[in-house]
Amino acid sequence: MTKIIKTQVAIVGAGPSGLLLGQLLSKAGIDNVIIERQAQEYVLARIRAGVLEQGTVDLLNEAGVSTRLYKEGLIHHGFDIAFNQIQLHIDLEKLTNGKHVTVYGQTEVTKDLTQARINANLPIFYSAEDVQVTDVLSPSPKVSFTLAGQSYQIESDYIAGCDGYHGVCRASIPRSSIQEFERVYPFGWLGILSDTPPVQEELIYGNHPDGFYLCSMRSHTRSRYYLQCTLDDDIKNWSDERFWDNLQSRLPLPLANQLVRGPSIEKSIAPLRSFVAEPLKYGQLFLAGDAGHIVPPTGAKGLNLAASDVFYLSKALKAKYLDHDTMLIDDYSSTALKRIWKAERFSWWLTNMLHHFPEKSSFDQRIQQAEFDYLCSSEQAQKALAENYVGLPY
Ligand code: APR
Ligand code: PHB
Repeated sequence: MTKIIKTQVAIVGAGPSGLLLGQLLSKAGIDNVIIERQAQEYVLARIRAGVLEQGTVDLLNEAGVSTRLYKEGLIHHGFDIAFNQIQLHIDLEKLTNGKHVTVYGQTEVTKDLTQARINANLPIFYSAEDVQVTDVLSPSPKVSFTLAGQSYQIESDYIAGCDGYHGVCRASIPRSSIQEFERVYPFGWLGILSDTPPVQEELIYGNHPDGFYLCSMRSHTRSRYYLQCTLDDDIKNWSDERFWDNLQSRLPLPLANQLVRGPSIEKSIAPLRSFVAEPLKYGQLFLAGDAGHIVPPTGAKGLNLAASDVFYLSKALKAKYLDHDTMLIDDYSSTALKRIWKAERFSWWLTNMLHHFPEKSSFDQRIQQAEFDYLCSSEQAQKALAENYVGLPY
């Protein structure tokens, strides 16, 4: 027999979007249930980006999960952009009147949110099979799934589709009711994590004739490095030694000599894509985070955009349940999309400036160089970059 569970908001997906939304709703006394396709260990092991805007940090604080973030997060007041041997310092603090970013891995954010949910004994179903959303145009939309042979149906007022790019929520919206905008880039990022000190204290995004690179970190003793690779590449082709040799040859000279090598503890390839679905609401179903949009990781906007979606959505649901006001619910999609498109533009721009595009003409390459030269010579251009990097206002 199917077990029926009633709640106010059914949340599909236990990534950062779903967990953060659940936490904020629970704090406001709004009942919610999370349904996740993967096992908890799998979700907690995923390695993703690690630069948080202040708005994201504030929201995590509001959600009551900031203790470890404040203790272990690294405040970064700037970062570098390098073109061959030229290194441009972007002084975020100076260019934005005192703003900064916090380096703290998405893996840790997910761990903190999961721990908070488990400590509060709030309902979360992991390893849910055959998750389906139905009746989203009715006042009582449903999420059904099976778990260990038992079938479940969650009956709710609203469904939050926080189930990522490959999730079931966006796919349940009829094609005629949703429009998709997409750009697929002709390369990927090969990333490694290693327990070695970062090559410098701040991040470096680099453009080199052999391709983009990024030097990032998780702590003073753990580095995260990326190299542009081809789409058909395979991590089997990349021994640690090949990775380090390539990274070292792309870095500006003084840094190349400082690079500390060590065994990789994780290695993966991710393709780059820009994607937006419109609208982000269909009946009683909302899309938030990667379920509604993807940015290429250049600029680290993915997690931060998920957080701003959750900010708008949690505010809208609080207005509905606490003040009986549905205006913010009706406006959720258009409000969130305005900020999403600005982050899409920024990530697309930074991706274009920093990567080697195999099909680009010599004209395009000169334009790329001119873009960097302009950035070096114009404080106004640096201000625009910095304003976007620290995060546009909500
Ligand atoms: N049913 C239930 N859960 C699902 C389903 C499904 N059919 N499909 C996917 N999921 C789960 C995934 O297993 C994953 O745990 O939804 C979760 C979605 O999490 P994320 O992909 O991390 O997306 P989101 O929470 O929106 O976080 C956005 O993650 O991918 C990065 O760059 C992105 O940093 C950004 C952040
Ligand atoms: C990371 O640390 O993984 C990272 C940092 C900045 C980015 C992307 C990824 O833009």
